[in-house]
Amino acid sequence: MKAALYRNTGAAADVLAVEEVDRPEPGRGEVLVRIHASGVNPTDYKARIGLTPRPIDGFQIPHHDGAGVIEAVGDGVDPARVGQRVWTWLAASGRRWGTAAEWTVVPERQAVPLPDNASFELGASLGVPAMTAHYCLFADGPIAGKTVLVAGGAGAVGHFAIQLSERAGARVIATVSSPEKAALAEQAGADLVVNYRDADAAARIRDFASAVDRVVEVALGANLQLDLAVSQAGTVIVTYAAEPSDPVLPVRACMTANINLRFVLLYGVSAAAMDAAVTGISAALASGSLTELPAHRFPLADIVSAHETAEQGVTGKVIVTP
Ligand SMILES: NC(=O)c1ccc[n+]([C@@H]2O[C@H](COP(=O)([O-])OP(=O)(O)OC[C@H]3O[C@@H](n4cnc5c(N)ncnc54)[C@H](OP(=O)(O)O)[C@@H]3O)[C@@H](O)[C@H]2O)c1
Repeated sequence: MKAALYRNTGAAADVLAVEEVDRPEPGRGEVLVRIHASGVNPTDYKARIGLTPRPIDGFQIPHHDGAGVIEAVGDGVDPARVGQRVWTWLAASGRRWGTAAEWTVVPERQAVPLPDNASFELGASLGVPAMTAHYCLFADGPIAGKTVLVAGGAGAVGHFAIQLSERAGARVIATVSSPEKAALAEQAGADLVVNYRDADAAARIRDFASAVDRVVEVALGANLQLDLAVSQAGTVIVTYAAEPSDPVLPVRACMTANINLRFVLLYGVSAAAMDAAVTGISAALASGSLTELPAHRFPLADIVSAHETAEQGVTGKVIVTP
């Protein structure tokens, strides 16, 4: 099969190539998925650059997220799954078989049924972003009736955080940095969208909701003053991204506000929480509550351009089609 792969970490143009490799066979408990769309996440290019070193098993096919159709199953998997449309999560975690290829093999739990009403591109956008968003939102209990602040509401995690919050019955405020991103956050369903660079951002949030209960935070250092300004005792600020330099924590201000700080790295989230995320995302998909972000599409042969485009931080999802 054709696969994009790297054997050493480095710049996309230096290490990524499309090669012919043997198609993997599904082992016990695994499924073989014909990939129709492969989604690129920051974690994929950070691993390829070598920023988050992981052992390479000869070669590494990048991308955790993908969507396609199950073509074969290994021992112990219900043969009725053959022909099922699915989306994958963490396909390349501890394995060489990422989704930037014509086929991948994953444990069957990591190939989740994709309803007919959901496109392959939406399916290929869910794994890392929607599961991270789900954990950030629900790790501290239900959010019905609560107010959620989503920082970076036009980002991939932010987009699904807005949609999962709305579906769960929360009021959602999103921050963005431009009118184009504001339109995306509004389309996603945010009840209030604020430009985080505006001097009156905190005041506008407090006018809308006297305080927020949860913050899904993409840039803790940059936004902590804003977050504290709109928090109340018990507000949970969940941080899922590291900034180029770590912030200095204003301990007294955090103590005085009685806030809780939580940090998340998807790779270490418990199996129970991952299963809960799959369940929640599946229900949201079935009801049509999740939508695609704008897609930047590349054929597999243009894998280098796909990674370079993702690294530039384009708005929307970079999708590779084998
Ligand atoms: N911990 C985990 O398990 C985990 C899981 C998923 C993602 N991540 C990390 O989370 C980050 C985002 O991932 P993604 O896939 O959502 O990326 P993305 O689609 O590129 O979105 C990033 C968003 O962050 C926004 N942003 C940047 N600085 C901001 C600030 N100071 N305030 C508010 N928003 C800000 C950007 O909007 P503006 O340009 O408008 O600022 C952009 O919309 C990446 O660093 C990724 O590696 C971590």
